[in-house]
Amino acid sequence: MRKMWKALSLLLVVALAAVVFAGCNNSGGKVSVGIVLPTKDEPRWVQDEKRFKDALKGTKYSTEILFSQGSSAKEKENVQTLINKGIKVLIICPQDGAAAASAVEAAKKEGITVISYDRLITNTDAVDYYVTFDSVAVGAAQAQYLVDHAKGSGEPLYLYAGAASDNNAFLFFQGAWKVLQPKIADGTFKIANSSEAVALQDKADLSRDELSKIIGQVTTNWDPNEAKNKAQTHLTAAGADMKGDVAILAPNDGTARSIADVFGSDSAVTSFVVTGQDAEKASIQYIIDGKQSMTVFKDVRTLVKDAMGMAINILDDKKPETTGSYNNGKVDVKAKQTDVIVVDKDNVKKELIDSGYYKADDFTGIQ
Ligand code: BGC
Repeated sequence: MRKMWKALSLLLVVALAAVVFAGCNNSGGKVSVGIVLPTKDEPRWVQDEKRFKDALKGTKYSTEILFSQGSSAKEKENVQTLINKGIKVLIICPQDGAAAASAVEAAKKEGITVISYDRLITNTDAVDYYVTFDSVAVGAAQAQYLVDHAKGSGEPLYLYAGAASDNNAFLFFQGAWKVLQPKIADGTFKIANSSEAVALQDKADLSRDELSKIIGQVTTNWDPNEAKNKAQTHLTAAGADMKGDVAILAPNDGTARSIADVFGSDSAVTSFVVTGQDAEKASIQYIIDGKQSMTVFKDVRTLVKDAMGMAINILDDKKPETTGSYNNGKVDVKAKQTDVIVVDKDNVKKELIDSGYYKADDFTGIQ
């Protein structure tokens, strides 16, 4: 008799677990919020996935995260998959801001609310909201760091940018240029690696087309390998007057590390200050080791919280809160924007370890 009870109760537990599990797994394939991220090949977006998963633990909302692996075609397929699963809200960080328009237009046709995440989808009216960091401030902070650490005058300045298919690359560069241009004009810096930037160095404000010219020349395409090859080409071409103590505007951490490796192995480069962004773990180690000068910390927990908060508002038929708007070439997209924090070896512990973002034992030599 006792045995039978035991067997029965075990069965009950298993059955209950199956029901609970099916619930978490969106039984019937229904998903309410679909999330599409650009690539797993960059730690930045794996970090976003992790933070989404952390934020979603224990919520009643069913979500699914798909990666586009650097392909706009795959991205469109992902959006279609999520549309078929009945999503009500799409949170999407486009691989290519312009190419993603057709994917979100397909979602919009189904009555889905579209939230552009971190990168703005351009030239379409099918974007309802935008959650983002203050990207102009990111570029300005990188440039300010170079200005604050400039040595004397006439210092060679190497410029690098993100991918031209990413609207953020323009915002970062625009923010950086605003701070660097007066310091090029007053002779603190001399541009070392871009004839397009030299041609525009007397202009304080650049148009999109002018930015395009410079970005086209010094783009890394957000690819560390491309960044490395470009840096090598630049240093091979540079004369002695473009070496010594140098300043390097590197657009993000992935490219910063490979550019830093190249500059670090040139014996005619006496010292260099190099920027970054994203606070990737590998770059935090580089900062601790003195190989990368700074990073711009964008707390992904906040971005995830804002995006999910918006999605939940939409599901609950409430109006999401916004703080401003961004023009995407076609419409003004209502946006919620978050501030960024400059991190270097002096505050790395405070901002990234004490804040609970990373664990101290993820790194060696942190004090
Ligand atoms: C993001 C950066 C990231 C870069 C490359 C940008 O749009 O804002 O955080 O480093 O893309 O993925």
